[in-house]
Amino acid sequence: MANRGGFSSKLGFIFAAAGSAVGLGNIWKFPYEAGLNGGAVFLVIYLILTVVVCYPIMVGEIAIGRKAQANAYGSYKKLGGRKWGMIGLFGIICGVMILSFYNVVAGWAFGYFLEISFGSLLKQGNYSDFFNSYVADITDNFIFSFCFMIITAFIVVKGVQGGIEKASKILMPVLFIILIGLIIYAITLPNAMDGVKYYLLPDFSTFRAEALYSALGQAFFSLSLGMGALITYGSYISKNDNIISSAAMITVMDAGVAFLAGLLIFPLIFSQNLQPTAGPGLVFVVLPGVFEAMGPFIGRVIGGGFFLLLCFAALTSTISLLEVPVAYLVDEKKWPRKRAVWLLGLIVFMVGIPSMLSQGAVELFTKLGFYGDKDFLTFVAEVFSDVSLPLGGCLMSIFIAVKWKKENFSDEIAQGNPNYKGSFLEKFINVMITMVSPFILAFLFINTVLAK
Ligand code: PFF
Repeated sequence: MANRGGFSSKLGFIFAAAGSAVGLGNIWKFPYEAGLNGGAVFLVIYLILTVVVCYPIMVGEIAIGRKAQANAYGSYKKLGGRKWGMIGLFGIICGVMILSFYNVVAGWAFGYFLEISFGSLLKQGNYSDFFNSYVADITDNFIFSFCFMIITAFIVVKGVQGGIEKASKILMPVLFIILIGLIIYAITLPNAMDGVKYYLLPDFSTFRAEALYSALGQAFFSLSLGMGALITYGSYISKNDNIISSAAMITVMDAGVAFLAGLLIFPLIFSQNLQPTAGPGLVFVVLPGVFEAMGPFIGRVIGGGFFLLLCFAALTSTISLLEVPVAYLVDEKKWPRKRAVWLLGLIVFMVGIPSMLSQGAVELFTKLGFYGDKDFLTFVAEVFSDVSLPLGGCLMSIFIAVKWKKENFSDEIAQGNPNYKGSFLEKFINVMITMVSPFILAFLFINTVLAK
């Protein structure tokens, strides 16, 4: 066990786990989901679900990892036997698949950062056409996502403390500073307040049930739940750490960054009299027009700053996505960390190639006949993230309820938090995990499958 490594402090863990949570999900996906689902109404639902459903699941994952001191597969196996280990293995496979497409989108963000800051992207005019041809261009995509994977692997190979923790402690505060700076600029623009109102004043007459499913799925993805990332990170923390307060801080940081990303993007969009309902292209198609309107110099600085922010956020998430299978190979197969990181990095990059080619470059991957003519990247994202993460969370809750048992779960949390036993929070978390969450998540899972 001694050579598994671990975080140096509670704060190191919180930064790394918040780094995993804060990512493309917060800055790219959250604003477009909110834009599609009524703005403030979505925000309210999202925040409630995050606290009530997702927070207890996060506590569950961290407790499992810390108790077992092992990777996602090893943790379930140790606490429940080989069969339960399959839940962990399923999570690891989801992690590999999520990373394969996540790295492609991160590559676009990296390319946009370079092209806006140092190239001529802001002179394109028609940003929809530009984006479509950009993602269909194999050369740029290949280079940028390859670079992104190399940077990720370079950090992960340095280990938990020297790589993951160190990078997160630098990148997270920088990300926060860039975000605040951009928001201050955005809310001073003309008409920005219309965006703030759209985002903060809910109009419940616009509520639709889909907003509920989207918000729960989004919260799950955003908090990195359901695939063992937090089991893995939880296995690197000390027995004296307070899981309850750590999980609360990670949740607040993640929801906080999503909230702030909305507070940046809606004022920007409304300041240009654009619509917030552009969908996944919101960040890549709508925002460059906003940056162009700021003039050549400010556009480069603010636009480049925004995409750099997106890269930093993505990087602390790709690190955690790669660490999940790496920890498995190091723990279970006794591989040297170096070999596990570089080989997995290469494999995941190659698994991502069909996703990369699915945005117009190769017809075969762009229109999957067996999947309603959707593209390969969407297929992987829907199957391994939208559907599988809530399923993973549901299985984890069932594991605690029927196998590990809530008494053992509470005992683990009480280490490092002696007041936990008998508290209101203990009752709340136990009721949610053993009685409520499995049903909510199963319901969401079935609805998501039916909707796809
Ligand atoms: N939470 C990340 C985001 O919001 O971008 C994505 C993610 C990272 C999901 C790590 C799952 C995971 F294990």
